[in-house]
Amino acid sequence: MKKNFHLIRHPLVQHKLTLLRKRSTSVTEFRELVSEVAMLMGYEVTRDLPMTTETIFTPMERMRAPVLKGEKMVLVPILRAGMGLLDGMIQIFPSARVAHIGIYRDHKTLEPVEYYFKASKTLRGRDLIVLDPMLATGNSAIAAVERLKSGKPRSIRLMCLVAAPEGIRAFHQQHREVPIYTAAVDRKLNAHGYILPGLGDAGDRIFGTL
Ligand code: URA
Repeated sequence: MKKNFHLIRHPLVQHKLTLLRKRSTSVTEFRELVSEVAMLMGYEVTRDLPMTTETIFTPMERMRAPVLKGEKMVLVPILRAGMGLLDGMIQIFPSARVAHIGIYRDHKTLEPVEYYFKASKTLRGRDLIVLDPMLATGNSAIAAVERLKSGKPRSIRLMCLVAAPEGIRAFHQQHREVPIYTAAVDRKLNAHGYILPGLGDAGDRIFGTL
């Protein structure tokens, strides 16, 4: 498998992704499914987080026990569709911090335009997980990661549901060292920058703005 690229093939993830793709899936179901898939993928995305040990006391005796090493992780949803992945991730990382980044795609140029950024004062030394369900052209994710790198985090990971080959290529051309985690690699982009077969507009399906 390509370096820094992880296709998550877990049967539960794959089954739920198929439900997400169906056009008959309602907004209510879509939201729940996105959350569930995020939670399941969260295990894989964080599999290699650094660990340390600390001394604890069980009711029986003292022991050295494993714990996550370092500062609290930061989840970075790219607005607005990235918000759909946030709940599921927070279920498994209840103490994670959240940095919001607002980027939209100009429909004519498909280029990213940043309109909002709110993170804690420093990202230095933190582990960041960028949440973006659809890696299409890759432009928004590329711009988001560029912005986040200036905060000098310890690591950055990109988590999406569906990726287009074009988006993977473009993203890794700019950010080779940032691992991509996705549940599917689809066929291609259409002329409007939508993924085929994809699942449609993730933001519209999560927020019911169809
Ligand atoms: N964004 C989406 O929501 N869907 C696509 O197919 C591409 C970008």
